[in-house]
Amino acid sequence: MTNRADMTLTSSGYYVSQEAPIATDDPVPTPSSPPPDVLRCAYMELVVTDLAASRQFYVDVLGLYVTEEDDETIYLRSTEEFIHHNLVLRKGPIAAVAAFSYRVRTPEDLDLAVAFYTELGCDVRRSPSGFVKGIGDSVRVTDPLGFPYEFFHQTDHVERMSWRYDLHSPGELVRLDHFNQVTPDVPRAVKHMQDLGFRVTEDIQDEEGTVYAAWMRRKPTVHDTAMTGGDGPRMHHVCFATHEKHNILAICDKLGALRRSDAIERGPGRHGVSNAFYLYLRDPDGHRVEVYTQDYYTGDPDNPVVTWDVHDNQRRDWWGNPVVPSWYTDASLVLDLDGNPQPVVARTDSSEMAVTIGADGFSYTRPGDEEPMPEWKQGEYKLGHQL
Ligand SMILES: [Fe+2]
Repeated sequence: MTNRADMTLTSSGYYVSQEAPIATDDPVPTPSSPPPDVLRCAYMELVVTDLAASRQFYVDVLGLYVTEEDDETIYLRSTEEFIHHNLVLRKGPIAAVAAFSYRVRTPEDLDLAVAFYTELGCDVRRSPSGFVKGIGDSVRVTDPLGFPYEFFHQTDHVERMSWRYDLHSPGELVRLDHFNQVTPDVPRAVKHMQDLGFRVTEDIQDEEGTVYAAWMRRKPTVHDTAMTGGDGPRMHHVCFATHEKHNILAICDKLGALRRSDAIERGPGRHGVSNAFYLYLRDPDGHRVEVYTQDYYTGDPDNPVVTWDVHDNQRRDWWGNPVVPSWYTDASLVLDLDGNPQPVVARTDSSEMAVTIGADGFSYTRPGDEEPMPEWKQGEYKLGHQL
């Protein structure tokens, strides 16, 4: 699939190459219609089972701003946002994701979205008045990978709260940064997202070319969404950015003080992939929320694509800390356009957890070391024995 000889090994331990280091033998057809011009990930619509509990988590603990709310739905935004919302919490019977929503450059891009997905035989629906408050003409589709995607341009503008320091908290969430999706066949998903105009910035592979995850962007950051290999379609996480690392530490301290440490699933830590400082939380329904800061600019056309070896124990945590098994196994259901959960298809390629935790797993800190990592540092391996 990918020849390591075509990549350059960096002094940091990862490889670099140019665009499209991933190929698929089972592609989604490429439509003849051009894709819509996607600006960025804009908001996620989450179905939650206890609206009051979710409000307490996202507003009282995490400090997102309420743009609008009623008994059924809460519209939330981050500090720097000027569009109506970045997160919709809608009360429903099953915790799931109703929409991964992207903003497109012009109203005419919605016509392109309709043509693009109609040609692929997808369920495509258009609402001239929008599917949610604050958003105008919108197109929703069940994409060829089974995910509920939305595209819109028109939206109500609201005030940026950046200057309202009197309202800011020490853990201020300033932007929606990205989505993360779980899909059984990562190369197939990557090829389809490239057809939609996304570019790969980083991936995780083994020497045989199995691809475990890939990160893709429209805006010039590491990603707008990532494809994580696993049983899917499911939603792995939605991520908000803070300005600084200390904002993430403040969230941890606050959760501790509130006796809500059980909301912390993984981290804080430094990612290898993306170089960002991170924290993973679980909301009252188990939806995973990442808080993230300080990835890097990727906007040049020849931005190098970064490839990590799946056995590099610094790929997911730069300090070599173990990844908890739940982070690999748990994810949220996604809905079709009628609100029914999409069936989950099992991954058949080897799983990242199995190759790094299982009894035959082997991870390294320095490639080529004769001795394996000391027993006390075999974090993921050791966690595997606790399963
Ligand atoms: Fe993430």
